[in-house]
Amino acid sequence: MGAAAAQLARDQGLTVIGTASAGKKAFAESLGAVYVEYGDDLADRVRAVAPAGVDGVLDLIGGAELDAVAPLVADRGKLVTAADRVTVARLGGEPVRRAPGRETLEALAARVAGGTLNPYVSQVFALDRAAEALRLVEGGHALGKIVIAVPG
Ligand SMILES: NC(=O)c1ccc[n+]([C@@H]2O[C@H](COP(=O)([O-])OP(=O)(O)OC[C@H]3O[C@@H](n4cnc5c(N)ncnc54)[C@H](OP(=O)(O)O)[C@@H]3O)[C@@H](O)[C@H]2O)c1
Repeated sequence: MGAAAAQLARDQGLTVIGTASAGKKAFAESLGAVYVEYGDDLADRVRAVAPAGVDGVLDLIGGAELDAVAPLVADRGKLVTAADRVTVARLGGEPVRRAPGRETLEALAARVAGGTLNPYVSQVFALDRAAEALRLVEGGHALGKIVIAVPG
């Protein structure tokens, strides 16, 4: 989700600051993001690259990580999470608004076809290895998208 959000935000002309572990620095930068390593003192590291503050935060982790970045954003309506409704409500932020359905998928598919949105498929598993694919996704550190190929 972070990789997709970074590309969509970049294409809106926004400056994107992306957090990931050190092994994903080059990947984050390839998306046009300013890379900041996560972990202790994340908010201070973000302030170091954005001294004037940030206009919004999209959180994909929740919990303590969401608490840590909340002070970065003055307008709590722009503190948005896809991961933790409970913490974001306490902080005065918002859960991400979803718009699933044909129109959204077609708009995203058009961007993929047009080359402006890369889903970054890092691995494709055959259906009989679906359990392995799901374990990788559930590990929380996959790179891009993991695809399960269904024959037929
Ligand atoms: N994918 C969806 O369609 C979808 C839909 C609704 C909600 N969500 C929610 O959105 C969240 C993200 O989903 P996803 O599919 O993007 O997950 P993902 O593919 O597993 O990616 C999670 C990313 O978070 C990074 N990360 C792990 N720990 C972190 C931390 N402490 N601080 C900052 N970054 C950290 C990981 O980077 P490293 O590998 O470098 O650690 C990894 O790249 C999840 O809570 C998920 O439940 C996803």
